[in-house]
Amino acid sequence: MSDSRNYESLENLKALYTKAKENNAKHNITGVLIYHNGNFLQVLEGQRDHVDYTYEKIRLDSRHKNILKVINIDVEQRIFEDYNFGFTVVDDIKEFNQLHEYLEWLKNAENKLANKVITMVENFIRTIG
Ligand SMILES: Cc1cc2nc3c(=O)[nH]c(=O)nc-3n(C[C@H](O)[C@H](O)[C@H](O)COP(=O)(O)O)c2cc1C
Repeated sequence: MSDSRNYESLENLKALYTKAKENNAKHNITGVLIYHNGNFLQVLEGQRDHVDYTYEKIRLDSRHKNILKVINIDVEQRIFEDYNFGFTVVDDIKEFNQLHEYLEWLKNAENKLANKVITMVENFIRTIG
């Protein structure tokens, strides 16, 4: 989780999203990046060294601040691999709703480890809806 440094302009955000999608596809990293009201929530999934490398780059990015690593766990199964080509950027209400539906559906599949992550994402998107 982090705060955008100065309410990034839409144009800047689009460039960030494109870059993130491109790099993550290259490194087989899946997850979501959610932006709302100056706050980011991001989930990254993948091989540990790839995730750590990407996280380190993100951490040093001056476009955001107050960066907080909330959960860091080993998982057997990815949550977002089957969602929207793997890595999704969510910044409008339609996508928030879609993501919410997906997470609700996944919860029923009773993936216990995933539930921690799902709860975190849901709490964040609840502040939006
Ligand atoms: C909130 C936030 C999320 C980001 N997420 C990603 C990401 O998932 N993957 C990524 O490669 N870069 C991400 N970035 C951009 C990186 O900080 C960095 O600019 C980028 O990885 C540099 O790519 P390059 O090494 O190919 O030039 C993010 C930046 C911010 C501010």
